[in-house]
Amino acid sequence: MSVLQVRNIAYRRGGRTILDGVGIEVAMGEMLAVSGPSGSGKTPLLLIAAGLMPADGGEVLLDGVPVAEWSARARASIGVILQTYGLMPFLTAEENVALPMQARRMQRVAIEEAAATALEEVALAGMRHRLVSELSGGQKQRVALARAIAGEPEVIIADEPTSELDPENRDRVIQLLAAKARAGSAVAVASHDRHVTAACNRVIRLVHGHVVSGATSSELPG
Ligand SMILES: Nc1ncnc2c1ncn2[C@@H]1O[C@H](COP(=O)(O)OP(=O)(O)OP(=O)(O)O)[C@@H](O)[C@H]1O
Ligand SMILES: [Mg+2]
Repeated sequence: MSVLQVRNIAYRRGGRTILDGVGIEVAMGEMLAVSGPSGSGKTPLLLIAAGLMPADGGEVLLDGVPVAEWSARARASIGVILQTYGLMPFLTAEENVALPMQARRMQRVAIEEAAATALEEVALAGMRHRLVSELSGGQKQRVALARAIAGEPEVIIADEPTSELDPENRDRVIQLLAAKARAGSAVAVASHDRHVTAACNRVIRLVHGHVVSGATSSELPG
């Protein structure tokens, strides 16, 4: 069954068309790559798919429910890594990871356990009490990943999750996202990195806001 369906998206800003008729579909257990050159519209597509930004046309459905009707719990069941991370600098790594789980009203002990596990999975267990403002770029990126995967979200949306990482951490992150997909999450990753796209089940390519290859049935008319 498809979890996340994004259909026929239009997005226009400042008189320019940034996305035009774009669709993606990500099922449970699947990892989809959104590739394409810088400026092709990957970030707006992922923000719209995550329900974080409204589109000017088209549909976003999670388990068949349109984005306008998502409950707080449904919104929080989507783990997101923003290209700019979106971490709170004056909270610790662990406090940042805990935030979405608090929004999902998970029990305190469960949150602590899930945050510790997620930080271990990104090899940052020793940094959990550090303020985010004291971390390196790559460490911040891994805190953002830990936040997105903690507590087994239904969907994981990752915008360039390896852009700041050394090869060892890049491979760790790729393996981790692939493992989350195998464990049942629907994962969508925007990336230029061929190591990331090679690990995905499917790749779609965006150019100037259009899907030029790898289109799924959601892009087809009717
Ligand atoms: N709010 C906005 N207002 C005006 N233009 C925007 C806005 N958001 C994005 N754009 C434009 O839309 C296009 C696609 O944006 P974006 O940078 O998100 O693409 P991308 O594929 O994610 O690129 P990158 O690989 O560099 O992250 C760019 O030309 C950008 O300038
Ligand atoms: Mg981008």
